[in-house]
Amino acid sequence: MSIFDNDIQEVLFSEEQLKNRVQEIARQITADYQGKEIMLISVLRGSFVFMADLCRAIDLPCTLDFMAVSSYGKGTKSSGQVQITKDLSEDITDRHIIVVEDILDSGNTLSYLLKILENRHPASIRLCTLLDKPERRVKPVQVHYSGFTIPDAFVVGYGLDYAEKYRNLPYIGILKPRVYGG
Ligand code: PRP
Ligand code: MN
Ligand code: MG
Repeated sequence: MSIFDNDIQEVLFSEEQLKNRVQEIARQITADYQGKEIMLISVLRGSFVFMADLCRAIDLPCTLDFMAVSSYGKGTKSSGQVQITKDLSEDITDRHIIVVEDILDSGNTLSYLLKILENRHPASIRLCTLLDKPERRVKPVQVHYSGFTIPDAFVVGYGLDYAEKYRNLPYIGILKPRVYGG
């Protein structure tokens, strides 16, 4: 039980389900990059919880960096205008990069971000997203690691927010439409 439970219509993925899936993805990444060193790039802020769990389940030499972009503001729809609010601290040239995201929705954020990162000439670049909502895709984005495909509902928790709240829910749930005036 938590103070947010009244705002949640349905639990989509429990803590246990998230933990198991994150471990599966980490095992796959560990197998795919044997003998290599990788660099995980977390796209703030939504991916910070997934990043924290994923990186600890990967059994490879690994560095971490963070980038912040925002396209949603306080609404529930992507504005299409992506802004970098914090760039990487590290140089990614010749590094094996995995971009870690919480959700791939319209694709606006990631198509923009991946283009920028590719221009910096990493050795390789892949995308790992916990959630994929393909029904809403506007820009095509190639996904290498995907946790769950979800329907077009507004989800929160495990890092995902609505108006900056609910990021600290330990599970992923569908928000009641009345919360966002739907
Ligand atoms: C959300 C989410 C992804 C992006 C996906 O971030 O965390 O980064 O939107 O949507 P898209 O595929 O339609 O671009 P948001 O801009 O809300 O910032 P946040 O991570 O700080 O919540
Ligand atoms: Mn985000
Ligand atoms: Mg957000």
